[in-house]
Amino acid sequence: MRVKKAVIPAAGLGTRFLPATKAQPKEMLPLIDRPIIQYIVEEVVACGIEDILIITGRGKRAIEDHFDRCLELEYYLRAKDKEEWLTEIQQIATMANIHYVRQREPRGLGHAVLCARSFIGEEPFAVLLGDDIVKGDRLCLAQMLEVFAEVKATVIAVQKVPLAEVSKYGIISGQEIRPRVFAVQDLVEKPKPEEAPSRWGVTGRYILTPRVFGFLEQTSPGAGGEIQLTDALKVLAKEEQVFGYAFTGRRYDAGDKLGYLKATVELALEREDLGPPFFEYLKNLLVGRE
Ligand code: G1P
Repeated sequence: MRVKKAVIPAAGLGTRFLPATKAQPKEMLPLIDRPIIQYIVEEVVACGIEDILIITGRGKRAIEDHFDRCLELEYYLRAKDKEEWLTEIQQIATMANIHYVRQREPRGLGHAVLCARSFIGEEPFAVLLGDDIVKGDRLCLAQMLEVFAEVKATVIAVQKVPLAEVSKYGIISGQEIRPRVFAVQDLVEKPKPEEAPSRWGVTGRYILTPRVFGFLEQTSPGAGGEIQLTDALKVLAKEEQVFGYAFTGRRYDAGDKLGYLKATVELALEREDLGPPFFEYLKNLLVGRE
């Protein structure tokens, strides 16, 4: 039971990032020189998954253009002998089989995932949320696929979050059955701190079994009036095993202004071309400041 398909929900309105997202998809905001969604697609491809479904919506056409060929630009780069750029531009359009479906109304993450049903069929699949960038020695999705290969059941990425922030996340409860792996008993979407069953917050990476679609279909609007994936997983967890996995790595919420800034700075510091001069710049800037 290998995971061969991935779903990237990218239909959200990006209200946390207005006004930048008024006329462009939040998934296309650049982290240095690549749009956020390209990092996610690259993570999927690096894990050996080649079929990707991006759930889009109105105003998201720039995503399709980005992963398509651009013959005029290729012609220009070839004519100007910019081979390096040419290769990079072509690679973006050929690295995966990217499919698209539109979520016609903004009805929440659960509804967006349900839009993938006929593409997925009866196989397990990965879901990666475009806002969550995870950096570390090993790709987050690769770690999760390894756990999935062993447990052959739903695996949800989790990380410990501060109590004051539990209401931004889906929160799991369950028992840690071995280091980093939890048998999930329950999930709550965006609880108040006093109602949170733990501090383990769901992060935007999931390996799901196709049974989730049946539960998504039955799910009524929950937190924020939206159809929540967390609510369907809560019911699924009563019917079959669901595991939480505390991945290693640092996660950035690139859909939030501060998270986006942190991701930009840390990714820039890691880059061979930009890291050293950017470090010098930051050091000088911060001297004398607290
Ligand atoms: C979504 C999920 C939530 C999860 C979060 C991770 O919420 O509904 O369970 O913890 O992503 O980023 P959103 O951030 O879209 O409101």
